[in-house]
Amino acid sequence: MNRSPAILIVDDEEHIRKIMSIMLGKHGYSCRAASSGEEALEMTARESFDAVLTDMKMPGLDGLGLLARLKADNPELPVVMVTAFASVDMVRQVMRAGAYDCIPKPFEEKEVVLTLDKALDRGRLLNENRLLKKQLKERFDASVFLGQSPAMRKVFDLIDKVAETRATVLIMGESGAGKELAARSIHHNSPRRERPFVAVNCGAIPPNLMESEFFGHVKGAFTGADQAKKGLIAESDGGTLFLDEVAELPLEMQVKLLRALQEEEVRRIGELSARKVDLRVVAAANKDLREEAAAGRFREDLFYRLNVIALVMPPLRERPDDIPLLADLFLKQAVEKNGLGRKKLSPAAMRLLVEQKWPGNVRALRNAIEQGAILSEGEIIQPGDFPFAASPAGAAPGGRPFLKNDGGIAVHIPEEAVDFKDTLKKVAQAAERIIIERVLARHEGNRTHAALALGLSRRALITKIQEYGL
Ligand SMILES: Nc1ncnc2c1ncn2[C@@H]1O[C@H](COP(=O)(O)OP(=O)(O)OP(=O)(O)O)[C@@H](O)[C@H]1O
Ligand SMILES: [Mg+2]
Repeated sequence: MNRSPAILIVDDEEHIRKIMSIMLGKHGYSCRAASSGEEALEMTARESFDAVLTDMKMPGLDGLGLLARLKADNPELPVVMVTAFASVDMVRQVMRAGAYDCIPKPFEEKEVVLTLDKALDRGRLLNENRLLKKQLKERFDASVFLGQSPAMRKVFDLIDKVAETRATVLIMGESGAGKELAARSIHHNSPRRERPFVAVNCGAIPPNLMESEFFGHVKGAFTGADQAKKGLIAESDGGTLFLDEVAELPLEMQVKLLRALQEEEVRRIGELSARKVDLRVVAAANKDLREEAAAGRFREDLFYRLNVIALVMPPLRERPDDIPLLADLFLKQAVEKNGLGRKKLSPAAMRLLVEQKWPGNVRALRNAIEQGAILSEGEIIQPGDFPFAASPAGAAPGGRPFLKNDGGIAVHIPEEAVDFKDTLKKVAQAAERIIIERVLARHEGNRTHAALALGLSRRALITKIQEYGL
């Protein structure tokens, strides 16, 4: 925080407000004053302060009442109480209600400044702690956004350009193509990176909770609202609000959201006045939102409000030259995550990955590689270690496209549409291979004994051994 801390001074006596303002102004604070508890509440609803310094005895809403309301609203805001009647009981009560400290009246300049400094430090610490925890995770996730294909270079260029601005970005693309990663990357390359990135999955919030999730509520606004809630929009103040799966927003929420975006303010449920928010919105959809709007399933006005900059994440099949890069990254991550030893992709395995169509895009690639790394026995990952079916371009001969000899037999259903007979044949072949392998091992490689055990002629067995490359 480089700006001077914003302090709200609350006192019903004008000369005290003046003295305090001059005194604190000298020490580099930026002060605003309210002449009553009520006025203070109105001001904190509209502006944000780093600390509140309030008188105890005031007509109307007194210091203690104000403290309770402020704490219900924002538990992290430090409040310092100034009082002329500081009995032990009173101090105890004030502290119990959540004040940071209590200063007796008449006050000394040194004491006020010192207390305020400490209160601000604590407020900052609490806030930073919370932000840091969130950001650490986000930064880690967003740190690797790879691509070398011309299509991804265009994406990176666009991200660089829009990140600087406050323009709303609509990211469209298939599932798993990297829309969320793109949104995080916009945030982390923007001047807002130190502020929160708030991701909201619009398809995952129950409709009856939606308004309070987005806009917040005051304490007691409805049954179950026993704590005030800021709401996700206000949480993103100064940062980035990521509206994921925005096509899933119910129409009535679309209206409310549009209004909030236009006015740049939100009103909590149960509250009369709205609060300003400094908003930057990035939205994502895996449907064509323009089509949704044309079909009447999405409000056109909101579509245009979101679609200021359109970013389309290209599907992975259109940029196979990114696959080796991504594959190496995901393999390294899988090895680390699962504590595997050295692992490498065989050239055939890499070829197979590059040739896949990847309807599940980058996410599916990441999963396939993790599974391949876990299932592979030695250091080298072979085509047969992947969970999906061989594409027509095919797994290498001798690969085990569907099954893995790891105790039981696992049948992986490939992601792409399959020819059932063909699938069955492959499963049967893979099973046969495993059985032959095991029986051979049991007979220590003696083909005659193995053939007898399998009920095959020795000749037939040898043909199969060759066929499967055993
Ligand atoms: N270019 C990339 N570089 C590195 N990792 C990527 C890249 N693109 C996607 N990923 C990874 O793939 C996974 C899916 O990406 P992401 O969640 O961003 O996709 P999405 O488009 O939001 O998918 P959905 O529509 O299903 O929500 C994540 O684990 C992400 O980290
Ligand atoms: Mg997503």
